Amino acid sequence: MDPFLAACRGLPHERTPVWFMRQAGRSLPEYRSIRGTGSILDAIADPGLAAEITLQPVRRYDTDAAILFSDIVVPVHAIGFGVDVVPGVGPVIERPFERTADLDRLRPLDPEADTPYVLETVRALASELTVPLIGFAGAPFTVASYLIEGGPSRTYARTKALMLGDPNLWFALLDRLVDLAVASLRSQVDAGAGALQLFDSWAGALAPPVYERYVLPASRSVFDRIADLGVPGIHFGVGTGEILHLMAAAGSDVLGVDWRVPLDEARRRIGPDTVLQGNLDPAVCLAPIEAVDTAVGDVLRRNGDHPGYVFNLGHGVLPETDPAVLEHVVDLVHAHRPGG
Ligand code: CP3
Repeated sequence: MDPFLAACRGLPHERTPVWFMRQAGRSLPEYRSIRGTGSILDAIADPGLAAEITLQPVRRYDTDAAILFSDIVVPVHAIGFGVDVVPGVGPVIERPFERTADLDRLRPLDPEADTPYVLETVRALASELTVPLIGFAGAPFTVASYLIEGGPSRTYARTKALMLGDPNLWFALLDRLVDLAVASLRSQVDAGAGALQLFDSWAGALAPPVYERYVLPASRSVFDRIADLGVPGIHFGVGTGEILHLMAAAGSDVLGVDWRVPLDEARRRIGPDTVLQGNLDPAVCLAPIEAVDTAVGDVLRRNGDHPGYVFNLGHGVLPETDPAVLEHVVDLVHAHRPGG
């Protein structure tokens, strides 16, 4: 069986699988040379370009999975909410979500009509790739945070104020975002994606009882509504140590952890059979190579001989990372025998 898919199921496999969040992107010279200078949303809308960018890191690093070159704001952009992605900043919203009337700006996604380019990219990749393609969506909370804040935020103050101040509107917003994520994820699997990751990147900003009440039901609903697809689901966020047990209850097959919680500690918190993905600190890849070797060895040691494990960074590749270091990390992980 394919090592990545087997590991996601906790089944025995030949080599420890590895891929990197943000493996496609600015750390690769071949990315910079074909990406051009326009909005990333235009690059995503060009299937030939998007497929090539997805393939670049797989070729260079020999990763065990590809991740689709797209972005978590593509569905809301495609239904006309008014989103751009500004280089060095991230998603920026023209008119942020404020009131009940804004719900009307979040109509359902018809993937064939609204994001045909995504499906074309996925279909091309499915026939070309020899490793599984990971499709993905933004989790309802993280997408909501962009729509409400209008862009990246440090405090999520507006998001929390809306959540706590107008729970009916908050849950209505999350319902729409669940529908968008589910429609997008299902269409990616129909087109050939072999696994799915739900990015709740900023969920770690929430206290456990707040996450449990205001966010978990929506993320659980996403996983419930993709369960019949038969592909592994991965659930990931940053700074989620205190809510890991709650994220685990959303029903994914794999839980992504950042570098703040060692893998053995994560399994101590959630349960010994938990399938994990992670969690090398991306900043370690900027340190001298001996430090990289030590840190990779430490991550692998803390996983022990658990077959339910996918090596990754604890968050995305930093743009200033030397690709040669990631090549070396892949070699180290592949030289390590699962279960040994
Ligand atoms: O390589 C991959 O992981 C696949 C492609 C991918 C991108 N964005 C491409 C991208 C994926 C999986 C994402 C998801 C995404 N987008 C997340 C969740 C993952 C995470 O990092 O937590 C989030 C929060 C976003 C929103 C977003 N889009 C941010 C914060 C940024 C960075 C802004 C910047 O320039 O620093 C983007 C832009 C973006 N998305 C880039 C890439 C390669 C870089 C900008 C570009 O090339 O134009």
